[in-house]
Amino acid sequence: MRIDILTVLPQLLEGPLKESILKRAADKGLVEIHIHNIRDYSTHSNKNVDDYQYGGGAGMVLSPQPLSDCIESLQESVKYDEIIYMTPDGKILEQKDCNELSLKGNLMIICGHYKGIDHRIREMYVTREISIGSFVLTGGELAAAVTVDSIVRLIPGVINDETSALTDSFQDGLLAPPVYTRPADFKGHKVPEVLLSGDQKKIDAWREEQALKNTQERRPDLLKD
Ligand code: ADE
Repeated sequence: MRIDILTVLPQLLEGPLKESILKRAADKGLVEIHIHNIRDYSTHSNKNVDDYQYGGGAGMVLSPQPLSDCIESLQESVKYDEIIYMTPDGKILEQKDCNELSLKGNLMIICGHYKGIDHRIREMYVTREISIGSFVLTGGELAAAVTVDSIVRLIPGVINDETSALTDSFQDGLLAPPVYTRPADFKGHKVPEVLLSGDQKKIDAWREEQALKNTQERRPDLLKD
């Protein structure tokens, strides 16, 4: 998979995307992440990337020219399956969206800043708008990092234990059951007996029951469908 991210703050993405699982995925050749500084495409004499909004109002808007030139220059060599814009008024990201996006070949992600991007860029190029929650961040970069992490970890081979991503919370519409590791007794707090029984059927049934209980208590909205 190839992911191109367009931003006015590349430094904000380099840390999260060049470390840990994402770095391993890149080292294994499973994903290629390219970060592009929108400012490099500005034709303005001061390399400006934003301007006041028409109609007045607080906050700057990312101008269409640098974004459009950056997008079109990338499109000359790559055919994108999706051009995604990170925005608080997008569709809230869910596990099923991550599953779907992990099957794509080439993704472009645009990070907004200030008041957002000129609306014509959304109309002209964007195929999907994603929000990571009902709150406003200072820019789309952290939301893009969250989105990329949630997609890339699903690509086969990225996580060592192949079954691990399949048993995540949300994959079956439920939250995950509790997990334990050694020791069996920690400061008098014991691991549930069933997990030490060696009876896989019983263990699976316990996990299912706990997942359901967890979901009923914490996210009853997930059980509505
Ligand atoms: N940009 C600012 N806030 C955001 C959010 N909640 N999700 C995605 N992009 C954003």
